[in-house]
Amino acid sequence: MKQTIFLLLLFSSFVYSKYRDNHSCKECHEKIYEEYQTSYHAKGYFDSTLHKKIADKVSTKTYVCASCHMPMADNIDDLISGVARPDINNKTHTDAVSCYFCHTIAYVQKSHSFNINIKAKQAKGYKPTLYGRLTNPDEGDQHSSTSTNPLYAKKVCMGCHSHKLNDNNVTIFKAMKDNQESLGCIHCHIPTLAGGVDKVDKCARGKHVSHKFLGIHDKAFRKTGVDINVTVEGKLLNVTLHNKMEHPLIIQPARAKFLKIEVQRAGTVIWKNYKNFPSEDKQGYFAYTFKENGKDIIIPAHATEGTVHNLEANERKMIPYNIPKLQKGDKVIVGLYVRFAKSECQKVIDLSKNPSLTKEQLIRQVSLLQK
Ligand code: HEC
Ligand code: HEC
Ligand code: HEC
Ligand code: HEC
Ligand code: HEC
Repeated sequence: MKQTIFLLLLFSSFVYSKYRDNHSCKECHEKIYEEYQTSYHAKGYFDSTLHKKIADKVSTKTYVCASCHMPMADNIDDLISGVARPDINNKTHTDAVSCYFCHTIAYVQKSHSFNINIKAKQAKGYKPTLYGRLTNPDEGDQHSSTSTNPLYAKKVCMGCHSHKLNDNNVTIFKAMKDNQESLGCIHCHIPTLAGGVDKVDKCARGKHVSHKFLGIHDKAFRKTGVDINVTVEGKLLNVTLHNKMEHPLIIQPARAKFLKIEVQRAGTVIWKNYKNFPSEDKQGYFAYTFKENGKDIIIPAHATEGTVHNLEANERKMIPYNIPKLQKGDKVIVGLYVRFAKSECQKVIDLSKNPSLTKEQLIRQVSLLQK
């Protein structure tokens, strides 16, 4: 008898805490689902080439990246300890940063190496609680969504995006300040678009928040992060960069963002800020660099030292260059570029089949014509 009750309890808690996969939301939230599918949150171990290659290089046994890249995994402890491997037939693995995961974060626990997302526990017999809208939450029949979760709006992004340190206390990335809220992130990365929240627009809202999570991969969106201002006085070129984002320019150690500056006379380049590699121009090259016991290394997992040349959140920086004196008709072209995987990455992982990861891509460009 006792055993039957125990089994029944086990069964019912399984039913009520059952994972609801991304596809199950599509039935009603079609538009949001389709936007989400194009986003990088939908790309996990199996779809993000760069992530997979680096993760496999860090270890082919343990998958410690799961906490943020495969947070819904039903065997997350086994993945982290190396008892299990990512499985392409397991929805809780292929769903990556899933709808259900984000919408059931109850609060975020601050922690030294990286923060921890604490999930809402489902009381037996209740519908799943899906935390959602910041304003006028729907307390309706669908999800028993609740407005009584004060931490959600403030902390929802900082469980994964705040910071990460390796076992040697070296910073691998730092995107948010300790007490920074998520409202700013939501404002820029989850803007409101036309079209109802669900297919029938039950509450006649007429608009919904975008789940494309546009970022550095989107050509139009990435133009809006940094302002570039250029002035020339005699032989002095001043390039002023203004980071308008609420996070540093570099928040991912595989990336490099850099200035490419050319002075053109009658169509020929007569001056450039570097010869062969953008990193030759130290002041215009933004990236992380790591060392292990004094030796340069590329993947930071075991680094013992790390430094970053960055533009902080909202920072404005003037960078001076000595150029030849301009003549009438000369053109100065200043471009800010990104490489999703900085050139050195190719020394440790093979990216020859993925040119878009290593090719320089324009973020934004301005030019000045000498009159
Ligand atoms: C504390 C959470 C966290 C952990 C743990 C973590 N990551 Fe990430 N990772 C992120 C976040 C957040 C981003 C998005 C940052 C960005 O795009 O600037 C990201 C992005 C990346 C990217 C860039 C992906 C792209 O599409 O360009 C790579 C590569 C990556 N992570 C590798 C790893 C590897 C390998 C591990 C495990 C050894 C790992 N990460 C563990 C949070 C984490
Ligand atoms: C049977 C239809 C249906 C399914 C399936 C469904 N939803 Fe909803 N959902 C709704 C309706 C209807 C609303 C209320 C819409 C409104 O406010 O206009 C809603 C509202 C929401 C909200 C906003 C709640 C708030 O605080 O106002 C969130 C978040 C949400 N759904 C997430 C999800 C997720 C995640 C899934 C998949 C696990 C999902 N929904 C599956 C119908 C559905
Ligand atoms: C469960 C962890 C997790 C949470 C919570 C989370 N993210 Fe992410 N986010 C990631 C990871 C991991 C990536 C990188 C995925 C990849 O490229 O492989 C990422 C990538 C991104 C990107 C980069 C897109 C691009 O073009 O490179 C943006 C923007 C972003 N997240 C915004 C947000 C915002 C805003 C929030 C809060 C509403 C949030 N994220 C919450 C883990 C998370
Ligand atoms: C003022 C608007 C704004 C705010 C606020 C903002 N971002 Fe961004 N973010 C951008 C823009 C624009 C880009 C793309 C340009 C770039 O990365 O240089 C971006 C890029 C990103 C990327 C990808 C960067 C990369 O190089 O891989 C991630 C991840 C991200 N943001 C997360 C966040 C998080 C988390 C927050 C909250 C702390 C936040 N953003 C706040 C505008 C903003
Ligand atoms: C990275 C975290 C994250 C992921 C992943 C995510 N959402 Fe959301 N979602 C949010 C946040 C934050 C809001 C509230 C934004 C606001 O109110 O401005 C939101 C709002 C919503 C709403 C209310 C929409 C509205 O306009 O009021 C619905 C419905 C929803 N999400 C469904 C989904 C579905 C379905 C998926 C997967 C296809 C999904 N979400 C994936 C973070 C996420």
